[in-house]
Amino acid sequence: MQEASQDWMKRVHDFGHGHLLRFWSELSSEDQKSLASQVQSIDFQELATLFSGTEKSVDWSELSRRAQPPIAIRLQENSPAFSKAEALECGENAIRQGKVGMILVAGGQGTRLGFDQPKGMFRIGPVSNRSLFAMHADSLRGAMRKYEASIPFYVMTSPATDLATREYFRDHHHLGLKPEELIVFCQGTMPAVDAATGKILMESKSQLALSPDGHGGIVASLDKQGILKSASERGIEHFFYAQVDNPLVRACDPLLIGYHLLAKSQMTTQVVKKRFGKEKVGNVVSIDGRTHIIEYSDLPDDAAARTDQDGELSLWAGNIAVHVLDLGFLAEASRGEGGLPFHRAIKQVPHLREDGVLEKPAAPNAIKYERFVFDLLPLAERTMVVEGDARDVFAPVKNAEGAPTDTPTATRQALSMQHKRWLEQAGVAVNPSVKVEINPHWALDAEEVRMKIQKPSHILVDTYFA
Ligand code: UTP
Repeated sequence: MQEASQDWMKRVHDFGHGHLLRFWSELSSEDQKSLASQVQSIDFQELATLFSGTEKSVDWSELSRRAQPPIAIRLQENSPAFSKAEALECGENAIRQGKVGMILVAGGQGTRLGFDQPKGMFRIGPVSNRSLFAMHADSLRGAMRKYEASIPFYVMTSPATDLATREYFRDHHHLGLKPEELIVFCQGTMPAVDAATGKILMESKSQLALSPDGHGGIVASLDKQGILKSASERGIEHFFYAQVDNPLVRACDPLLIGYHLLAKSQMTTQVVKKRFGKEKVGNVVSIDGRTHIIEYSDLPDDAAARTDQDGELSLWAGNIAVHVLDLGFLAEASRGEGGLPFHRAIKQVPHLREDGVLEKPAAPNAIKYERFVFDLLPLAERTMVVEGDARDVFAPVKNAEGAPTDTPTATRQALSMQHKRWLEQAGVAVNPSVKVEINPHWALDAEEVRMKIQKPSHILVDTYFA
């Protein structure tokens, strides 16, 4: 035991991270155990390679020049391959047959929003003041109601959000879901390193500065935590994937699932038409027959501005992080060597100085490493891209009030406008000054609103918020 512990300590020193043990002798045996387990779980070789920048890197300028628009189902065009009605029926059948699960990624730290709880707990309902978690759970319950099916809800947390998220669900009656329909699982972490030296930063004398390993961490954690296995055992074949910060997403959108199935796609992505070339969204493109996402920051100006013969942006498809993923494809990807690549982000990370005092940097000082779920796309042999109307599918809460875009106010407005449109399409005149919110558990779209209005006895009241 003693020898084993000396082995890992030697390894820490050999890789130049001896400072992690600087306060070892001051720690209680419990804290020593905790620090030892954090340190032992680090792949120092991988971290050294990442910091040196010698890992396989991508030449985005070169790839951007070769990038073509993806083959996609466009909003205003009829697909030559399959009709919308066919896709809808196919998606609805898969949900009815219990083959679909919903994944919600909610492990991010939400630093831009500046909310000190998990972002899912942020209240966003324009009238109800419901939380982001509640909006997603209600949308999912709406799908369960409509298709008379049970759809498991897989919520990915991180050590930063896990406990508060579990308590929130427990204290709010699982937001109306049956306990067996709610599966919360925690993603992994990566250490933050000093941007100048590559040394791992410490948050306290016994705690490394660890942060969630990105939404792409889902691939490894689904596998490690046995979720793929248990989902497969309950008959799940496909996952509908969404992010907690976008309450406009329709949980388990049957149309998207249907296109995915008809195309025999392994990973399907919903996109919106970009408003301008350098819009701050990932660009979904096709390169040598594979689908990739090129981040707006990696897309050279000339590639962003390129237009087709109709004068439309050539690289038009913006990623909104709504996907359908095959369970078999995820299982295969989780067995892939090395996992998804890491991306680096320079961030401000508070850390312990040599004298044991916590320093809160005024400027970015650290590198965080994150995996992105969209790096799965090029691994898939068969993908599908489907355009959605941004007004109906995308209004993420990213920034605090006062920012130019993606603020809570903008999201509330987008929700209210969508629900007003549903009412108007159902023949209801709505005063423009009135705030509107429709609970998706009551009606999922304009068509359902129309049917419910004709039969008002169907109006449903939720009580778990009281
Ligand atoms: P963002 O990249 O927007 O990050 O996450 P964020 O943490 O919400 O916000 P900032 O950048 O700190 O301001 C997009 C989605 O991916 C999830 C988030 O919870 C959000 O739903 N995510 C992000 C994870 O689940 N894990 C991560 O490690 C990172």
